[in-house]
Amino acid sequence: MIENIYGPQDNVFVQDHPLIQHKISMLRDKNTGTNEFRKLVEEIAMLIGFEALHDLPLEDVEVETPIETCMTPMISGKKLAVVPILRAGLGMVSGITALTPTAKIGHIGLYRDEVTHEPHEYYCKLPTPIELRTIVVLDPMLATGGSAVSAIDFIKQHGGVNIKFLCIIAAPEGIKRLHEAHPDVQIYIGHVDRELNQNAYICPGLGDAGDRIFGTK
Ligand code: PRP
Ligand code: URA
Repeated sequence: MIENIYGPQDNVFVQDHPLIQHKISMLRDKNTGTNEFRKLVEEIAMLIGFEALHDLPLEDVEVETPIETCMTPMISGKKLAVVPILRAGLGMVSGITALTPTAKIGHIGLYRDEVTHEPHEYYCKLPTPIELRTIVVLDPMLATGGSAVSAIDFIKQHGGVNIKFLCIIAAPEGIKRLHEAHPDVQIYIGHVDRELNQNAYICPGLGDAGDRIFGTK
């Protein structure tokens, strides 16, 4: 089940599946160690990805079963691009590619300035032809929304058109900023948290997603 928080015409989808909620609660726990945290991020990404990819196109193909030959649906084309925002988005890639093993993978490197909280790009490499692909942008955290908006700006500058953004936890401020900047982008969210604090961290959140995935400080 998905709740569309802005109404049926809009592109913001919040998950309410109990498995996703349970796993997000485990992620939040400061006593959850790196190994378990990584596994949870991967599993949650797969569960959100399952919903987000509900509209992949199908085509009927001929298959011979042990009983008879039949026409049966399979995903048509292989034009999917998965684009994690470095670093923390990397933790979600394996969850999505478990569902879509033939997807091509791009990377966008962004970090938030600690004082201004504005994103700075340091890397961008996207699979071609990007304009023909369904693009799934991954980042566990949507805080101010600056990183997601910049990443999608870059992808559109490179020709990307059909874009979905998947995150695990979002702040209301970030959802609003991303949705206003890119209303055409479908936003899939594991959980909407209360607010940002003065350091632009999500409350209650889970802390610094990159540090928790990679065991850094
Ligand atoms: C985190 C997170 C997002 C960004 C969200 O990355 O993974 O990319 O912050 O914040 P925003 O919505 O306010 O832009 P960070 O910049 O800490 O980099 P990292 O993944 O390399 O740790
Ligand atoms: N980035 C994170 O990793 N966590 C937050 O709460 C906000 C931005």
